[in-house]
This record gives sequence, structure tokens and C-alpha cells, in this order.
Amino acid sequence: MAKAPMLSLQQIGKTFSNGTEALRGMTMDIEQGSFVSLLGPSGCGKSTVLKIVAGLGNLTTGRVQWPTSKVDSLGRPDHEISFVFQEPTLMQWATVFDNVWLPLRLKGTSRAAAKDKVEEALDMVGLHDFPNSYPRELSGGMKMRVSIARALITRPDG
Ligand SMILES: Nc1ncnc2c1ncn2[C@@H]1O[C@H](COP(=O)(O)OP(=O)(O)OP(=O)(O)O)[C@@H](O)[C@H]1O
Ligand SMILES: [Mg+2]
Repeated sequence: MAKAPMLSLQQIGKTFSNGTEALRGMTMDIEQGSFVSLLGPSGCGKSTVLKIVAGLGNLTTGRVQWPTSKVDSLGRPDHEISFVFQEPTLMQWATVFDNVWLPLRLKGTSRAAAKDKVEEALDMVGLHDFPNSYPRELSGGMKMRVSIARALITRPDG
């Protein structure tokens, strides 16, 4: 019997409130551990799909299922998802350390308890020497790498 996919998109569609139809009838299964790229021209709906999968946007039609996930007490899929936005979306007033700490901080982890994990995430993206810098002091690529470190710090499933 074929293994259940980690994620199943079934005929998903999205029309924004201004009438723009960004997605129509998209169906796709994604296996655990796979690396998937969505390719297509600018404006074809790639970011819209990702936001729906991450729970950052609602569907107009279709279903998103996580067949292998446990559910929480409210019946929602209980899994760890991270999202790297197309823009860095960093807190301009906070240091690199504090930006990367944010997801753990929101889960109640103190700065001291998060220190090793933040340093490990910064190591992974080659920013070990910049914990005390502010976003305005970084290059565009460095800002995106901070955003990636922030996504890696919760060790998302996959
Ligand atoms: N919040 C929104 N309200 C209305 N229309 C939107 C909204 N977000 C995206 N769109 C529209 O939905 C379509 C898909 O946008 P999306 O951002 O998913 O494209 P994309 O494939 O990620 O493009 P790019 O490669 O440029 O990042 C576009 O026509 C866009 O104008
Ligand atoms: Mg996009």
C-alpha cells in the first residue's frame, strides 16, 4: 500500500476579496522528507499556495489535509511549520539575535534558554558573528538569512 503523503492539496482554489482568482483546482501530494519547488511566472499563485499551506490564508474551494499529523485538542493538525516570507519581514528595532529568538520567545522560552539554539541557527546561515547587529546594518542577502535562521529555530517537521 502506498505511504500516505505528509501533505495533500485537493482541488484548492483561492479568489481574493477584490475578485482576483489566484488559484483554481490545484491538486498535489507531498511526501515526508521531500524537497519541492513551485515554479511559475510572477503572479501565478506560488506565494498564495504557501500561505494557505502555512495557515496564513483561507481557501475559497478545496481541501488541505495533513494525513499523517496528530491533531490538537481543537482538532487542528498539530505540527511544526516554518515560513520564510518573500521579504525578510524582520523587526527593524530588534537585533539579529532577538529576531531569530522570536518563535521560541512566543512559545515561552527565555533568552538564556534560547541562546544555544539561536547561535546554532545563526551558524547554519553563516551569521555567527552578527547577533548584535540590527537589520539596517545588514545586506539584503544577510537579512534573508536571518529570516531563514528564524524559520529553522523551531526545527520544523518535514
Ligand atoms: N492579498 C491579495 N489581494 C488580492 N490579490 C492578491 C493578494 N495577494 C496576491 N494577489 C494576487 O494573486 C495572484 C498570485 O499572487 P502570488 O503572490 O501568489 O504570486 P507569486 O506566484 O508568488 O508571484 P511572484 O513570483 O511575483 O512572487 C496575483 O495576481 C496577485 O496580484
Ligand atoms: Mg511570491
